[in-house]
Amino acid sequence: MAIKFEVWQNPDELYNRAVDVISTQLQDGATTFGLATGGTMIPLYKKLRNSSLDFSHCQSVNLDEYVGIPQDHSESYYTFMKNQLFEAKPFQTTNLPNGEATDVHEEANRYESLLKSLNLDVQLLGVGENGHIGFNEPSTPFASETHVVELTSSTREANARFFNSIDEVPKEAITMGISSILRANCILLIAVGEKKRAAIEALVKGEVTEDIPVTSLCNHPNVIVLTDLNVI
Ligand code: GLP
Repeated sequence: MAIKFEVWQNPDELYNRAVDVISTQLQDGATTFGLATGGTMIPLYKKLRNSSLDFSHCQSVNLDEYVGIPQDHSESYYTFMKNQLFEAKPFQTTNLPNGEATDVHEEANRYESLLKSLNLDVQLLGVGENGHIGFNEPSTPFASETHVVELTSSTREANARFFNSIDEVPKEAITMGISSILRANCILLIAVGEKKRAAIEALVKGEVTEDIPVTSLCNHPNVIVLTDLNVI
């Protein structure tokens, strides 16, 4: 297995290490970054905003976007990325799936074609409590490409904290598929907090199963996992 686990009990050190990985990638010539959203990424983006790293010659592709809320909604991933990173650290080009497209399935196909035309140097990943990556919920085929998903009630409940009520949480999203994610040359997964223990323990165990999407990373040659969980 080519997963390198690093346990950092101090979150500040963990996120410094994440910046370090990204900085090394930049120095080595990486120009295409797969970005992620979620609470886990907030401290990382804060450190990137405060760093001297320059992404102005780089392009980004985000993992996913909700369907059914406008781009300028406070909880859209478009707004999240703008506020957390892009306003302070401009990229040459940024890409997210368009959750407002008239035909979201066509939009998913467009996004997949875009991904295939790029050489994704690094993909940042968080993980859901049920082991989802992007919005690839349990049972998603590992061969999946960018597609429209119906969010599970557990994911909607987990994300309800960002909305006024669970009823406001979108029911669908467009997400990179698992095979789209695995095409990245390097994957940097960050998992912080007890709620992520089951997912990370499954990864450490190395039993690859579509029931736990994050275990698909066991099939990838270059993965770094940064966690504060004492799992190794
Ligand atoms: C969402 C996102 C994922 C993210 C996950 C965990 O469902 N689509 O990309 O990894 O939530 O989020 P958090 O970091 O807030 O725990």
